[in-house]
Amino acid sequence: MGKTRLGINIDHVATVRNARGENYPSPLRAALFSKKHGADSITIHLREDRRHIVDQDLVEIKKKLKIPLNLEMAPTKQMLKIALKYKPEYVCIVPEKRKEVTTEGGLNLKKNSNFLKKIIYKLKRKKIRTSLFIEPNLKSVLDASKLGADCIEIHTGKICNLINKGQKYSKEFTKISRSVNFANDLGIEVHAGHGINFQSAKILSKIKGIEEFNIGHFIIGESIFIGIKNCIKKFKKIIK
Ligand code: PXP
Repeated sequence: MGKTRLGINIDHVATVRNARGENYPSPLRAALFSKKHGADSITIHLREDRRHIVDQDLVEIKKKLKIPLNLEMAPTKQMLKIALKYKPEYVCIVPEKRKEVTTEGGLNLKKNSNFLKKIIYKLKRKKIRTSLFIEPNLKSVLDASKLGADCIEIHTGKICNLINKGQKYSKEFTKISRSVNFANDLGIEVHAGHGINFQSAKILSKIKGIEEFNIGHFIIGESIFIGIKNCIKKFKKIIK
């Protein structure tokens, strides 16, 4: 296993842009700038309501970006069609609720199993590596493996919340470690993301076997003060 990769989620550059209905700041510029300063991949979440990233962002970023693009999307026919058309290197399937502020939990793999299997199969045929965003438990890892996923992304929201509040997080840490080890044993590539900041990245990077961290909101927020370049530098040092 090589160095742990850092994926930058630039959704909230689009959030700021959309707040004024202007074309500034540009998610494409943020993607290219992040690449220049060490990002290993760029993540965008094309939500069904297009509240931040819009279709045109996907088109432009896919065309110009020279590092892997990770498209987060809900398991719907419309999103599958878009992914098959633009062929990002990675797709991460996430659950989506219209009213949520952000992705609140992992996928329900039982409820969606037939459709998820079909999506993974179709994406694989186009050589798109597919990841399922799941809660850290062995059952979900096993189900993801049975569905044919190449990767899983572990939802780190719960542990990050506990860390932020100064509460005990060892139980959640163990759950994540066990899930990572089990996935590695099954030959599944492991990513992790949601709610990560410098402190939680430091803690989570003690778990060996996580190949990629995908970080968004904190990076865009912290960049107001220290810039994307320094933020990427700090994260890369922490997760290396
Ligand atoms: N990974 C996935 C699958 C997500 O849905 C999100 C949030 O869009 C992230 C990572 C990044 O989370 P955050 O913005 O809290 O860093």
